[in-house]
Amino acid sequence: MANPLRDPADLRLPRVAGPSAVVLFGVTGDLARKKIMPAIYDLANRGLLPPGFAIVGFARREWADEDFAQEVHDAVRSHARTPFREEVWQQLSQGIRFVAGDLNDPSAFDRLKHTLHEVDRARGTLGNHAFYLSIPPGLFPIVIKQIKESGLAQRPEHGWRRVVIEKPFGQDLRSAQELDSVLSEVFSPDEIFRIDHYLGKETVQNILAVRFANEMFEPLWNSNYIDNVQITQAEDIGIGGRAGYYDGIGAARDVIQNHLLQLMALTAMEEPLNFDPEHVRQEKEKLLASVQVPADIGAHTARGQYSPGWQGGVPVCGYLEEEGIPADSQTETFAAIRLMIDNRRWAGVPFYLRTGKRLGRRVTEVAVIFKKAPHLPFGRDFVMDSADNALVFRIQPDEGMTLRFGSKVPGSAAMEVRDVTMDFQYGDSFVDASPEAYERLILDVLLGDPPLFPGEQEVDLSWRILDPILAQWTEQGQPPGYASGGWGPSEAYAMIARDGRIWRRP
Ligand code: BG6
Repeated sequence: MANPLRDPADLRLPRVAGPSAVVLFGVTGDLARKKIMPAIYDLANRGLLPPGFAIVGFARREWADEDFAQEVHDAVRSHARTPFREEVWQQLSQGIRFVAGDLNDPSAFDRLKHTLHEVDRARGTLGNHAFYLSIPPGLFPIVIKQIKESGLAQRPEHGWRRVVIEKPFGQDLRSAQELDSVLSEVFSPDEIFRIDHYLGKETVQNILAVRFANEMFEPLWNSNYIDNVQITQAEDIGIGGRAGYYDGIGAARDVIQNHLLQLMALTAMEEPLNFDPEHVRQEKEKLLASVQVPADIGAHTARGQYSPGWQGGVPVCGYLEEEGIPADSQTETFAAIRLMIDNRRWAGVPFYLRTGKRLGRRVTEVAVIFKKAPHLPFGRDFVMDSADNALVFRIQPDEGMTLRFGSKVPGSAAMEVRDVTMDFQYGDSFVDASPEAYERLILDVLLGDPPLFPGEQEVDLSWRILDPILAQWTEQGQPPGYASGGWGPSEAYAMIARDGRIWRRP
């Protein structure tokens, strides 16, 4: 076997991006300030960006380069994961430029082109440009059109062009397909990077490592041994200042269509031929294509909207009282769906997906819950005080895994069995803190590395699952309320109780 320490292809060696410029649309948005700009700084701080690097901001603000640099600086100081180092900032800030202009104005894109030529020469970014669209989806088509018409999408002979699209990819299957066709007129599939930031999380990538790098899990990974799978993404916060984005989108489009269906695909898919992006995508697509939309949507889905309540000891308002939300909004802030998978491995095993704002606490987990032992041989002295065996991927916070199983209580003359847990915590096992998802994904864009980005088909298949559910919910009108700080509407409990099961309390 090759000595990995000497092997130049060893992926443990840092992968450093080549010369490149990121053109950021949507610089004043929350995502840019809280995630994208800090992640770029963190990459620079980790030595993963080259000296020939530039960030070009585009927005309708009367800013000079220095004003935009100050914005980036403030975002980095407030939100970067790694410590602030003046020398790293000095290097990075030399490549910061700003183009003021309206998205509808072709001359603004001419100025952008001019600025990119300037940074290519002055900063050595060599004509490699990534266009990062962190803007409302309604604006995607105009930006893509302007990029095309200004000639910005033309790939230089020795360079690359890439486009990065933030979710949501459409509002339904039809609009997602329209967006795909707009994109594909200008960019080839290998130039399009759709961000689902969950795939950038270490704990999410670990699902495939655990399943396919070990022998002890996969033999049990099927309907013979698994009773159900519960995938939860819960947040204690409300919608904060995101009314404009969230209202009309709601919990299912915001989180289930992308993050939770991706978690489900990774948990349930077959082993790919290898880890080349097309093979991983193929398996995810196959899995998503096997998902059955519930025949009785009323019985197997639930939604809700948060009402006033208490969170962390303070009173909080309901969704309809949030700033910017119409008083008659029917947007759901909680969604739960039971999905079945139509294949041999998973026949009869329900996957319960739920997400919500203003729930009991912030937690994302995938809980694989096993069947009961088929026979208990212990006789009369047996006392069972135990739930079902479970393997839980703790995606965040408190990243790690938990295995829950029954164990004899020591000292008891009876065979008294109680639940215990075996825990794997990232902090105990690994020295390095995990990078933020955006660090990994932005680096992959700059390296042109696509495995962690959902393909067009996956997105379309996810909408195929959600569209009929959303249509029925729209017909039903106002979602039921649920108290802030709890675990969702009573409809969600009733939904799982119909199957004779209960939700895990994360
Ligand atoms: C985003 C959603 O995609 O994911 C947000 O738009 C949500 O509404 C966020 O809060 C959750 O991300 P994370 O990484 O904090 O679980």
